[in-house]
Amino acid sequence: MREQLPHEPTALLLRWIEEAVEAGLAVPHAATIATADASGTPSARTLLLKDVDDRGLWFASVASSRKGLELSDRPWAELVFHWREFGRQLRFAGPVVPGDRTISDEDFRARGMPARAGVLAGRQGSPRGDASAAEARLEAARHALERQPQLTSRDWQAYVLSPRHADVLQLRGHGEPLCFAYERGADGGWALTELWP
Ligand SMILES: Cc1cc2nc3c(=O)[nH]c(=O)nc-3n(C[C@H](O)[C@H](O)[C@H](O)COP(=O)(O)O)c2cc1C
Repeated sequence: MREQLPHEPTALLLRWIEEAVEAGLAVPHAATIATADASGTPSARTLLLKDVDDRGLWFASVASSRKGLELSDRPWAELVFHWREFGRQLRFAGPVVPGDRTISDEDFRARGMPARAGVLAGRQGSPRGDASAAEARLEAARHALERQPQLTSRDWQAYVLSPRHADVLQLRGHGEPLCFAYERGADGGWALTELWP
């Protein structure tokens, strides 16, 4: 397997997502993101990978959410992809920085009406409270978006994780799983090491 691994782990991520898409897997670009608060307590949840470029792995969320606040306190995260049908796991770790406002706004505008209205109506992860008051806020947000389709939320934030480390695990039926680690060197290049699975 080692010979088939690309020099950069992001190239492997793109290859494995492509293979998952070809196989018709649902949400092949979903990942678990783990963050930690200022005391080091971790928290994790699912999100969608938005893009991969020279800077790293892009995702978007609400800056005032638990993960958003944790990323502003401790700007480091791990993103774990798992493609169960292929027995594959790929994990990335590295610093996370917020993207430009224009990238965040573009991402927000590309989202569906329910997702945009939800962000405008109430803070992600905070108590929803009284049902009719919540519905009224959603209705107001939907109307605002219908009147001004370009409307965005300053709370919607694109982020990029620049990988410093990545590891790969490939299950092999009854055979021993294969496991490799990529470590980024000071020159920006990657060193690949086989690990015990
Ligand atoms: C398949 C799937 C995709 C999701 N994608 C996103 C996403 O791209 N961004 C996001 O903020 N939350 C996304 N969520 C919701 C998060 O998992 C989470 O519930 C939410 O962001 C609040 O997390 P927090 O309170 O820990 O910050 C997704 C959930 C699922 C199940």
